[in-house]
Amino acid sequence: MQLYTSFFSNLPHIETDRLVLRPLQMSDARDMYEYARDPEVSRYVLWDAHKSIWETKRFLHFARSQYRRGFPGSFAMELKESGRMIGTIGFMWVNPDYKSAEVGYSLGREWWNKGLMTEALDATLRFGFEELKLNRIEAQHDTQNPASGRVMAHCGMRFEGVMRQRIMNKGTFRDVAVYAILKNDWQLIH
Ligand SMILES: CC(C)(COP(=O)(O)OP(=O)(O)OC[C@H]1O[C@@H](n2cnc3c(N)ncnc32)[C@H](O)[C@@H]1OP(=O)(O)O)[C@@H](O)C(=O)NCCC(=O)NCCS
Repeated sequence: MQLYTSFFSNLPHIETDRLVLRPLQMSDARDMYEYARDPEVSRYVLWDAHKSIWETKRFLHFARSQYRRGFPGSFAMELKESGRMIGTIGFMWVNPDYKSAEVGYSLGREWWNKGLMTEALDATLRFGFEELKLNRIEAQHDTQNPASGRVMAHCGMRFEGVMRQRIMNKGTFRDVAVYAILKNDWQLIH
């Protein structure tokens, strides 16, 4: 894990066409609460819709303490055009022995279906392969949330199968689709 500590405690600013991926800040609370309070955004993820801005601030405190400890964490997704913080994307865990990791992401409803998460995931995969020197990056989504699978597929991740009732989310067991991309796959398409 030591290997990755300095990366996660100093997450870079990464520019894409429409976004800047950068570390989360306490000043993101208002923008984040605006989308994180929406139950449609949290429907298929493991967190619940935020009930107050204090929950958002608590989350941001936690995220920043993870950075300080050099643990895997998420980037804020900031829209270049307006400076609005509209979502998060990042690494859930990293396994230094296997050079593997899992990515996860969320985006405010107002910005769905504009290709923004595809843009953010592509940049995050690049960071994973080129900076973290990973060999395999995984992602998973609830089978009821196919839009997330489209994002993974657009970025060259390959569908590996469904794990039935793998997780309990919001009171019910959920089937989970697993995708992954290997360094070799990445090099072939970039
Ligand atoms: C899932 C999510 C990340 C997608 O982000 P996005 O920026 O809208 O994704 P993109 O615009 O890059 O791509 C969306 C793709 O899904 C497709 N899509 C949208 N709704 C769909 C649906 N109900 N069924 C199937 N495909 C769907 C779009 O058509 C597009 O595919 P295409 O380009 O082949 O046409 C976003 O909706 C989100 O954050 N949702 C809430 C949190 C969440 O579910 N996170 C993922 C947890 S695994």
